[in-house]
Amino acid sequence: MANVAFYGGETVPLEMHKVRIVQKLSLPPVERRLEVINQAGNNTFLLQNADVFLDMLTDSGVNAMSDQQQAAMLVADDSYAGSATYTRLESKLRELFGMEWFLPTHQGRACEHILAKVLVTPGTVVPMNYHFTTTKAHITLCGGTVEELVTDAGLEVTSTLPFKGDMDIGKLTAVIAKHGADKVAFVRVESGTNLIGGQPVSLKNLAEVSAVCREHGIVLVMDASLLADNLYFNKTREDACKGMTIREITRAIADLCDVIYFSARKLGCARGGGICIRDRALYERMRGFVPLYEGFLTYGGMSVREMEALTVGLDETMDEDMINQGPQFIAYMVDELSKRGVPVITPAGGLGCHVDAKRFVDHIPQSQYPAGALAAALYIAGGIRGMERGTLSEQREPDGREVFANMELVRLAVPRRVFTLSQIKYAIDRLAWLHENRALIQGLIFYDEPEILRFFYGRLKPVSDWQERLVAKFRADLGDSL
Ligand code: F0G
Repeated sequence: MANVAFYGGETVPLEMHKVRIVQKLSLPPVERRLEVINQAGNNTFLLQNADVFLDMLTDSGVNAMSDQQQAAMLVADDSYAGSATYTRLESKLRELFGMEWFLPTHQGRACEHILAKVLVTPGTVVPMNYHFTTTKAHITLCGGTVEELVTDAGLEVTSTLPFKGDMDIGKLTAVIAKHGADKVAFVRVESGTNLIGGQPVSLKNLAEVSAVCREHGIVLVMDASLLADNLYFNKTREDACKGMTIREITRAIADLCDVIYFSARKLGCARGGGICIRDRALYERMRGFVPLYEGFLTYGGMSVREMEALTVGLDETMDEDMINQGPQFIAYMVDELSKRGVPVITPAGGLGCHVDAKRFVDHIPQSQYPAGALAAALYIAGGIRGMERGTLSEQREPDGREVFANMELVRLAVPRRVFTLSQIKYAIDRLAWLHENRALIQGLIFYDEPEILRFFYGRLKPVSDWQERLVAKFRADLGDSL
């Protein structure tokens, strides 16, 4: 929202765009919702989109595009090698990040695959503020281990700390001292730290991490998938950034890093990914994997149309009126839910509103996936598809032991420029109803549990008939409403 005051005094996240293409939605009745969530094994990843009213699963690949992005897609230069589209993308990244070398990939995890293959060897460690699911999987597949070094305060669910994604510098130097710098494959800082509630990293903290890495000759890698939200928080929450433009903050961040990779399904509101690299020798070590796993060096698995949209999207990310919409809608949702007593992560972060299932359903043990159960209940209550981000999203230890997550969250993503405020209000209302009826919600157990990334396609069943009782209560309270 630009600086627009409402005469009535209300705080409203005012959109600085208008909607010109729409998609029709439908909301199946609650009885049908009960049926389809069970057909989907109580896993929101397995729902059909046609059965979903508000798709808050993710912001990945589903942010709204601008008219300028759509227009750029029409002039894409389709050629296998040396396309002008690629050159435009490469130049834009060079302009924004000031790194000489770029490798295109089909999405974010493909960057992680290549980075892990080149930098991670058995017995090495990768310190990071916090892991992301696919990042950790690629590092462990290459024989490395992940050390999570976010500050202790970053893990406090309710807080007023503006940068909960910051890394603890004391922990970082201790890990380097313990393993030796040569055993540190690289240090990874994730902007807009996904799994702890889209919490940002300060420029100040990044500078400290960078100084430690440079002192020890360790490569500093930034995962910039959620950089857009992070930039908004740098600008609005960090004094040192208040006088800087978004473009200047972006460059200041990039100057501290050796490698920046991103999912263009998030950053740049398109679909694809890429790795920007400062050092030529490192670029050359990674380069061979792009034609092997992704596609030729001038598209890396992306369509030229998406690359054109991405180039424009990256440029639009430098516009504060563009990057503020997501965080401001999320802040509205977080504030309204807090007022109604619904436990959410505070302060509001980027990506989405994160409901704290540990407190919401504190009667469900972690072994029965409280966040998974709450996500299933919310689909039943409102046709709203959120994502479990808790124990279900963890990997078991090699000996089969369950790893209990630090946080049990249901993430309600707010894809950028997609939902209207009345839809957000509907989500708030259904969550408030569910919270009043939380005693009815019970746990889930697996009946089909894959070994790798089980949360994507594992199937679970309720431990009792609690879902039928929830539907009966919905009918009693809301009559014949959908
Ligand atoms: N890093 C971060 C911080 C991410 O959030 C994601 C994806 C990736 C890497 C991988 O990128 O999906 O393009 O392969 N996050 C999505 C999400 C899946 O829903 O949060 P990808």
